[in-house]
Amino acid sequence: MFNPFQRFMYVLCMLAFTLNSCKQAANKNQNMDQAATANKTWWKEAVVYQIYPRSFKDSNGDGVGDLNGITSELDYIKSLGVNTVWLNPVYSSPNTDNGYDVSDYRNIMKEFGTMADFDRMLKGMHQRGIKLVMDLVVNHSSNQHEWFKQSRSSRTNPYRNYYHWWNAERGKPAPRYSLFDVNHDAWKYDSLTNAYYLHYFSQQQPDLNWENPKVRQEVYRVMKFWAEKGIDGFRMDAYQFAAKDTTFPKFPLGYEKNFMKYYAIGPHLHDYLKEMNQEVYSKYNLMSVAEGAGNSFQDAHDMVDADRHELDMAYAFDGVGVAGPNGYSLLDFKRVFSKWDSAFAKKGWLSIFLANHDQARLVSRFGNDSEAFRTVSANMLNTFILTMRGTPYVYNGDELGMTNAGFTKISDYNDVALLNEYQHTKNIGGNLVQFLQEAQKVNRDNSRTPFQWNNSPNAGFTTGTPWLKVNPNYKTINAAKEEKDPNSCLNYFRKVARLRKENPVLVDGKYTLLDKNNPNVYAYTRELNGKKLLVLLNFKSKAATANTGIDISKAKVLLGNYPQPSADAKLRPYEAVVYQL
Ligand code: NOJ
Ligand code: CA
Repeated sequence: MFNPFQRFMYVLCMLAFTLNSCKQAANKNQNMDQAATANKTWWKEAVVYQIYPRSFKDSNGDGVGDLNGITSELDYIKSLGVNTVWLNPVYSSPNTDNGYDVSDYRNIMKEFGTMADFDRMLKGMHQRGIKLVMDLVVNHSSNQHEWFKQSRSSRTNPYRNYYHWWNAERGKPAPRYSLFDVNHDAWKYDSLTNAYYLHYFSQQQPDLNWENPKVRQEVYRVMKFWAEKGIDGFRMDAYQFAAKDTTFPKFPLGYEKNFMKYYAIGPHLHDYLKEMNQEVYSKYNLMSVAEGAGNSFQDAHDMVDADRHELDMAYAFDGVGVAGPNGYSLLDFKRVFSKWDSAFAKKGWLSIFLANHDQARLVSRFGNDSEAFRTVSANMLNTFILTMRGTPYVYNGDELGMTNAGFTKISDYNDVALLNEYQHTKNIGGNLVQFLQEAQKVNRDNSRTPFQWNNSPNAGFTTGTPWLKVNPNYKTINAAKEEKDPNSCLNYFRKVARLRKENPVLVDGKYTLLDKNNPNVYAYTRELNGKKLLVLLNFKSKAATANTGIDISKAKVLLGNYPQPSADAKLRPYEAVVYQL
């Protein structure tokens, strides 16, 4: 019942030159020195907090979150116990796709502030021991980028080959599926030069031509520009799609139902990653993660195994992909996380996440956002994320147990993908009522509503009119209220983040699944150098028993989301307990 777009969202569910040259050179030397001496695998111990800047905190009342807003909340971020921030794109952008359409890779989006604001934010993070990972959006640019303006201006322009063009006298190119286009057509005809250009995402996001070495060098220069400012890593947006067979052969009929198979890890992608590593990553102490991990464990290993010299960690969508609009089965969930863990037990490194800015809210999707169970189920899920092997990524607001937006009208939405898909559904006479019902459960705007700081108007996010409606439940779910409540999601999150920090076994320790066929409880151990922890998680709203065969009568309780954990592994609804054996 999922159309290819929805499937992708499940797969997705399922991606200053003002500084003088002396200062740049000094920074560069400093960063190179740091790279030589620093802990090169710090990203394994990282707990990543993802900030969606548009919705985090507005400092100037224009209704849009900004960099000064983030800077004003650095103590809050630090207080969570996280040590790395992944920031969604903040580069200049006309915002067709909220920053994922970059018009200038070396400048800050006007709505978000200035380069001086960025420098201040970065300094504030580093002063607090927080590293910064930036989004790098280079599968495509904005159609407002100077490269594209030049490229489309004439067939002989030097920038023509920065993008993929198909001259119309050759006929229509072989179909390519677009994830965001109203007609799902990734080729857009441009009469100016009588040619089609390729856009896997919206028409305003033309794909860059990675087969052109000049494009690659441009991107490496951009990466160095930010590395020399002192940032700590890149999350590479949609990068698994970057390489293409530029002869654009015909794909078999129906390919779009499984387009990942044709789009992911195209020819030479690994060559480009090796080149990028050599030119950029190897020269700085930067963490690297690409959105998506290909179609198989082998694809993922080929991107991240240390001896490949490509990237540091994989970010695979199979885990979030188990949940659709009708929920998920815990058995599937356990199977997917366990099989990824075992495939990476000896080599390579994974990301662990259940939410991000492209997914619905953690607690609404994987837990239970009713009044009775919201806190306890959010705490159970955060226990899961922070006790698995791999680098945990926590999406802002999930530490408060923020819930889905619950929009009912198409006019409440902002997401370009959703608006275009709605139009598509309308054009083909599809069921718009069902479309909106499903969107209410799974659409990504669910997680993009403004951060709920306190119970003042607009949740303390802005003094103006927010760009996206605030969730009306902000009076009961907000950071200020949770701060005062020792049993809140926020305070529990801090405890589980501390637990991870104090127990290296939770980072590197061997993972073993127990009670595999239990449909209600997820039970596993983590083991390292003689230390063994047992994690019991009840994923259901009814009491359930874990049958692990382990005697826990003498085990030490390290953490639980109920005041006293139950004896005999009888778990109350959504109960989470971590024992030391
Ligand atoms: C993946 C990003 O996470 C998503 O937000 C964006 O719309 C697409 N890539 C296109 O850049
Ligand atoms: Ca603002």
